[in-house]
Amino acid sequence: MKPMIFVASLLALGVTAAIAQSDVVEQRQNLMKQMGAQTRPIGGMLRGQEPFDLAKVQAGLKVFSDNAHKATTLFPDNSKDVGKTEALPSIWENKAKFDAALTKFGQDAQTAMASIKDEASFKAEMPKVMQNCGACHNDFRKKS
Ligand code: HEC
Repeated sequence: MKPMIFVASLLALGVTAAIAQSDVVEQRQNLMKQMGAQTRPIGGMLRGQEPFDLAKVQAGLKVFSDNAHKATTLFPDNSKDVGKTEALPSIWENKAKFDAALTKFGQDAQTAMASIKDEASFKAEMPKVMQNCGACHNDFRKKS
């Protein structure tokens, strides 16, 4: 291969890798946005500003559980400080702790799916799921 062509193909590879990494950032942010959208009606129900709706609660918990699982592969080593991300370096300095926080969140959502049957169980169990969001953001997400 001629040197110029070789350099050009290396550059092309580099660009592809950068796109793949910002893709990962976008994917994890989209998963988080979906969870944020589920949190709005759920928060309203917790505060008594929206009527309790078991189907909406269960649908939200399903999104939390699925997205917690999907997010586990979306924080690879090469995705820190790529593009516009709020992910803190502490994720990769404490990867085991971060992964454990994601797993616990998914498990808490699963537990709540099984135990929430009515408004009373919702009010008792849902806050345990929601506190995972703030706890993880506190340790691992930039404050804006
Ligand atoms: C185990 C850690 C963890 C848990 C649990 C978690 N998050 Fe996040 N969240 C993050 C990280 C890290 C980011 C920053 C991602 C980035 O910018 O690359 C984030 C970003 C977000 C964003 C901003 C997305 C954007 O870019 O617009 C929202 C909204 C959000 N999370 C909502 C939630 C909600 C709601 C919950 C709970 C139901 C939750 N998160 C649970 C770690 C977590």
